[in-house]
Amino acid sequence: MKGEVLDFGSGYGDITFAISKTHPVLGVDVDPERVTFAGKEYAAIQFAVCRPTGLDFPDASFDVITSVVVIGFVSEPENHLREAHRLLRSGGHLLLVFQCPSVVRNLFRRWTGRGTAEPAMWTPSAEEPRRLWMFSPKEVRNLLRRTGFLPVAEDFFYEPPGTLETGRTCSSAGRN
Ligand SMILES: C[S@@+](CC[C@H](N)C(=O)[O-])C[C@H]1O[C@@H](n2cnc3c(N)ncnc32)[C@H](O)[C@@H]1O
Repeated sequence: MKGEVLDFGSGYGDITFAISKTHPVLGVDVDPERVTFAGKEYAAIQFAVCRPTGLDFPDASFDVITSVVVIGFVSEPENHLREAHRLLRSGGHLLLVFQCPSVVRNLFRRWTGRGTAEPAMWTPSAEEPRRLWMFSPKEVRNLLRRTGFLPVAEDFFYEPPGTLETGRTCSSAGRN
């Protein structure tokens, strides 16, 4: 994938920095503290604060959008994907990485009588704690289709046991 990249939900900027080695990239995040940190840590890269509902860029501004472990944290996941779709140029790609419930872990929990794990909580800056969204790959495929994307590739990897204890799926989707 070539072209201009938007790292949508760039956090402290580590992934944005990795992307900057091969592509021109802008990192945006709703959290001003994270954006300030990223701007200091990676001064050569452009970072900006975005609204929870989106960016002020015109339609079709980027060739690639990366959303790395963001969809679980946004207030409106469908809106996040619609905004990504609006911002992508025709033929562009969204690279979406998300946590999904660990089938193996939940199987083991049910088998040992502990039931399915409760969704984790997180506290957005200056907001009340809320639950993380946790989607299965199938639910994300449906979300992607509903928001105008065509899933083109999928990969899956596990967090090491004892960290987040979830699976993560990496899904690449083309803009229709
Ligand atoms: C788990 S962090 C991931 C950060 C980064 N992508 C990484 O992998 O290091 C999730 C990020 O999503 C951001 N976020 C939450 N809601 C957002 C929204 N509506 N638009 C953009 N970023 C958002 C949070 O502020 C947080 O920095």
